[in-house]
Amino acid sequence: MKIYRAEDYNSMSRRAANILSAQVILKPDSVLGLATGSTPVGMYRQLVNWYEKGDIDFSQVHTVNLDEYLGLAPDHDQSYRYFMQQNLFDHINVRPENTNVPNGLASDPEAECRRYNEVIAGLGGIDLQVLGMGHNGHIGFNEPEEAFELETHVVDLTENTIQANARFFASKDEVPRRAITMGIKAIMQARHILVVVSGEDKAEIVRRAFAGPVTPLVPASILQMHPHLSLVGDEAALSLL
Ligand code: GLP
Repeated sequence: MKIYRAEDYNSMSRRAANILSAQVILKPDSVLGLATGSTPVGMYRQLVNWYEKGDIDFSQVHTVNLDEYLGLAPDHDQSYRYFMQQNLFDHINVRPENTNVPNGLASDPEAECRRYNEVIAGLGGIDLQVLGMGHNGHIGFNEPEEAFELETHVVDLTENTIQANARFFASKDEVPRRAITMGIKAIMQARHILVVVSGEDKAEIVRRAFAGPVTPLVPASILQMHPHLSLVGDEAALSLL
């Protein structure tokens, strides 16, 4: 594991964007695994900025996102498809047909999971997977105590996650209770994993995930076993590591 300590959120975002853009420059047809949440927003902003300056070309890139809420339409302002359009896809030259996010409106969610696994396999796996981390150590929507060997599957969100995400909805009752997420198995098969963390409120879970025992109680702890892991965080998030 390589740890990059950045001074603050902006330099953390720039460092993460550096790693992602290096991937795309060295392999223009990279498959990028992408994440939502507030942490990677600054990284996406930096990538858009470099794209506008002509420094990165996304025309041959394919993307697969980690997860999506079940029950939200792609144009719902809290869906992860909408997030990706707003924060990245609408501002760069990635081809729309090369971007993949699980379909939150799938009538048969289990079939959608199978389709998503086939999409990932069909692309030859993920070159670089970006990950944020929930306060309980979840990655994607892989919540504590789930099996490490799962591929894309339907999850019931924990109370902790519903609570944490309630700030984005008009009320807690509007937060979807279920989601589709890529499993830990698919995440661990990515050739390189880039974890981004920021803020003092993540310090304790960062310590448990990267300096504690590997356990399904802290899903992100399995990342310690990955042969090519980059952890990029600001001082606050890495303060207990
Ligand atoms: C959500 C997403 C995760 C993300 C997490 C942390 O639950 N499904 O992929 O890592 O939030 O978000 P934030 O970066 O806002 O703390």
